[in-house]
Amino acid sequence: MTAKNSKNTSIKVLCVCLGNICRSPAAQGVLEFDARRRALMMQVDSAGTAAYHLGKSPDPRSIAALSKHQIDISGQQARQVQLTDFDEYDWVLAMDKSNLNNLMKICPSNLQSKLVLFSQFSGGDEDVKDPYYGADEGFDKMFEHLKSLSEFFLDHIESQRL
Ligand code: 4NP
Repeated sequence: MTAKNSKNTSIKVLCVCLGNICRSPAAQGVLEFDARRRALMMQVDSAGTAAYHLGKSPDPRSIAALSKHQIDISGQQARQVQLTDFDEYDWVLAMDKSNLNNLMKICPSNLQSKLVLFSQFSGGDEDVKDPYYGADEGFDKMFEHLKSLSEFFLDHIESQRL
């Protein structure tokens, strides 16, 4: 039994997208909400592979889409992925294949197994579509997609526990 599978140990999860203002802050909010509902000990953070929006709040459209489901992500602040994240987190969940590829380029080879596409736990390999340049309804679709992927991921985590 590894430490991360112990019932009394918090699992550390980092959600990663490009800008850290639309998808990964929303993924963080959904995972925190769903993990709490399952009484799972989990620490979740999010980051971007790019540095476009450092220190900014999530996109107001992401905040609005999640607030419809009683999830408040307004207190988050964008940051960029850093090398220490690969040591610190048990799982690094990429929102799409482009960001997964970029993570693979900077992650030390002995820690690459922590990198996964978020959709892999649903048995698929689809991207969480970037809603940034689209219409507001793209953010509701993003929420529904993240909600489904969150349940698959947490099912996987629970199935690993003794
Ligand atoms: P995110 O969306 O990666 O889901 O945060 C984006 C946010 C900003 C930009 C691109 C994607 N941008 O080009 O500024």
